[in-house]
Amino acid sequence: MSTVLHQAARDAGLAPSILNSQPWRWQVHDDVLDLYADLDRRLPDVDRHGRLMTISCGAALHHARVALAAAGYEPAVDRLPDRGRPALLARIHDCRARPATPESLATCRSMQLRHTDRRLFAAGMPVPGEVLSRLRAAAASEGARLHQLPHQDVVYLGYAARGAQTVGAHDARAAAELHRWTHRGADARDGIPPGTVAGPAARPVPVRDFGLGGEAALPPGDGDDAGAVYMVVATAGDEPVDWLVAGEAVSAVWLTATAQGLTGSPMSDVIEIPGARVLVRSLLPPPGQPQLVLRFGVAPPNEPPASPRRPAAEPVTEAPDAGEDVS
Ligand SMILES: Cc1cc2nc3c(=O)[nH]c(=O)nc-3n(C[C@H](O)[C@H](O)[C@H](O)COP(=O)(O)O)c2cc1C
Repeated sequence: MSTVLHQAARDAGLAPSILNSQPWRWQVHDDVLDLYADLDRRLPDVDRHGRLMTISCGAALHHARVALAAAGYEPAVDRLPDRGRPALLARIHDCRARPATPESLATCRSMQLRHTDRRLFAAGMPVPGEVLSRLRAAAASEGARLHQLPHQDVVYLGYAARGAQTVGAHDARAAAELHRWTHRGADARDGIPPGTVAGPAARPVPVRDFGLGGEAALPPGDGDDAGAVYMVVATAGDEPVDWLVAGEAVSAVWLTATAQGLTGSPMSDVIEIPGARVLVRSLLPPPGQPQLVLRFGVAPPNEPPASPRRPAAEPVTEAPDAGEDVS
């Protein structure tokens, strides 16, 4: 079992994460796989409370579960199992054999195919309603809600995004942190490469420009984003366990979207900046705590560029000897 758990933890490295910080580490002991937040990789100025770090770890947790399902196992999962060790986010244990289904194999394939796509979605290629229902079901199966913003509310999301960008640009510490994670160098295994960030374009809802200005090297493509749908992943509560669940839902929704021929990008600046988050929350039916906004559209024919990853085995270790505390 330990080999299967090791592999699932390695596969989970494909998960999306805030600024591609990959803020997770895994520990295998006996037939148990523990997920920890890697506090050396958190972003104290962009992500003050650790919400986005925990959502990223939730996405990695879901990726590990998908890998296990494709390998023929269904585990039990305890979330935030030890109050005394808040960095221990989840424990995967008691894996029972359960044959992989065609759906679980397809979801696992989507882990390889999914990439953040910040290009424009042209009008005239609407996302089918049946696909949107599947995305909502994917979020619900993880204990979260996916709320699609109706056309009139997209205007308010635009206000929130513009406001968040202005406030973010005036926060010198957050801007410096962003700069560090967007200028990692050509050989970097983490962070945001300028080639994955779309150049300037007129959009009803501006996506994060990462402070790169003219350095953003991805041609945005044609269109005006009129073909984009905006969906808010929301939870009833707003505690770390809700952030973790939201991350699992983000992964489930995004992998489903990929399998359905959609592509897109998250928007988290509207979640980080408190005033923008209040505005986004006002667009949700109560009780709704917004955790992440997802922008999806029908995938253009050519692939968006992939972002780098750390070597898959780097965040995975065997447990130290009994009695040693690693949290
Ligand atoms: C919690 C979270 C917040 C994110 N916020 C943004 C964002 O505001 N803007 C954006 O373009 N991408 C955002 N992303 C996408 C990441 O930048 C992306 O996952 C990472 O760079 C790795 O690239 P990949 O998704 O192509 O593997 C976010 C992802 C997560 C999980």
